[in-house]
Amino acid sequence: MASPFARKPIAALVPEGEGDGKGLRRTLGVTDLVALSIGAVIGAGIFSSIGTAAAGQMAPDGVTVIRYGAGPALVLSFVLLGAICALAALCYSELTAMIPQAGSAYAYSYATMGELVAWIIGWDLILEYAVGNVAVAIGWSGYFVSLLSGFGINLPEYLTHGYREVLLAAPDSPIKHLMTDAPHIAGIPVLLNVPAFLIVAAITWLLVIGVKESNNVNKAMVVVKLIVLAVFVIIGVQHIDTANYTPFAPNGFRGIHQGAAIVFFAYIGFDAISTAAEETKDPQRTMPRGIMLGLLICTVIYVLVGAVATGLVPYTQLLANDPLSAAFNQAGLQTFSWFIALGAVVSTSAVLLVFQYGQARILMAISRDGMLPAWMAKIHPRYRTPHITSILIGTVVATWALIGDAGETYDLTNIGTLFAFALVAVGVLVLRKIEPNRPRPFRIKFVWPVALLTAGACVFVMMGLPLEAWKRFGIWLAIGLVVYFVYGRKRSKLNAA
Ligand code: ALA
Repeated sequence: MASPFARKPIAALVPEGEGDGKGLRRTLGVTDLVALSIGAVIGAGIFSSIGTAAAGQMAPDGVTVIRYGAGPALVLSFVLLGAICALAALCYSELTAMIPQAGSAYAYSYATMGELVAWIIGWDLILEYAVGNVAVAIGWSGYFVSLLSGFGINLPEYLTHGYREVLLAAPDSPIKHLMTDAPHIAGIPVLLNVPAFLIVAAITWLLVIGVKESNNVNKAMVVVKLIVLAVFVIIGVQHIDTANYTPFAPNGFRGIHQGAAIVFFAYIGFDAISTAAEETKDPQRTMPRGIMLGLLICTVIYVLVGAVATGLVPYTQLLANDPLSAAFNQAGLQTFSWFIALGAVVSTSAVLLVFQYGQARILMAISRDGMLPAWMAKIHPRYRTPHITSILIGTVVATWALIGDAGETYDLTNIGTLFAFALVAVGVLVLRKIEPNRPRPFRIKFVWPVALLTAGACVFVMMGLPLEAWKRFGIWLAIGLVVYFVYGRKRSKLNAA
């Protein structure tokens, strides 16, 4: 059996799925990629996690601080993260342009650092894509519930909050009473986030019927989210009370750092478009452009939204399920608050779409390499989509969203994604060393300082996450290693060759 560090030759990575008419269709251009990128990036992070990032978070005991908030200095967290993600985007661009195949960081690391590291990254990306979608679905549900209440429709609270959300809430939280007041079955409170479950089911259906349809749906949603955030900034800026900017950084750099560690979620997704390389026209040129342009647009929007949100109300009041709508409500702008809730619902739907799209393609790539069962790579004969994998992921994500807590899933998603970014940066250097002459359509200048700084910065942001996230991440990786050594290693096609 070959070494777990055996590398998949890049030449073998490129042609798969090309030209034989059986693979995925190459239909996506720069505009499609920027739309996919904005579709993936602007979502629950800016609409929901921004509240916890600004205000901080207390444990259920009401005494222990889980994380310190950034306060109005949240804009500095955004600037810091924008810079770090731009660095990571350079690393992704160099690799994507060289290896334009579905599978994202998983495919790159197979070519650079070998099978074991590739498996770890693929396993790790499940945190980014599938677990991330649990958080987004819960965020979607929060705004959907506010939207319905704007129409006078109020769903029972026990059908809009998952069990873990209520369990982990601080004692003074307005949902804590549900622990006793919800209907009980066999002594267990029935607490289910039904809207979160249903939206994941709907998105899964869209993905199964085909990339073209879902790509167009995504574009429409992107237009809506840009309009809504523009309205938030333009109306909000006229109601800023500059007194809210003092104190600017209530918890100093610790708050900016820990705020950045959670709101990093808002940046996740610019890398997701690299999973669509196999469906992209001229990926060598289109991919780097799409990634960088999408990231730039999102960073500018975040800084503006962050500045307006923390200027509208005292930062502590942003701790809500729907912080941007809540900020407008408290500033006396109810009609616009309803409009923002609508925008949040649309935006987070777009994120769900792109993430589930990406996850299915990563699992498909791993399966094609033999490390997951072959049926996972099956493509539907008519729709030409990985339908079985899409349905499997949809079922897991929907079930978790039904009972899960958003904060927990933000942390787990962020730690997994940052780790993958760091490994991708190291991969760029490894490939420069071992294959210096391979053509690089996109080449990072000053590659050593850039890649080392990227990896170091990602680890630094990870250090701003709670200890609990590190423990869970360790357990997840340990399970992944067991799966690899018990199943993947023996069945990998590279090993069989
Ligand atoms: N960046 C994505 C969001 O904010 C995951 O929802």
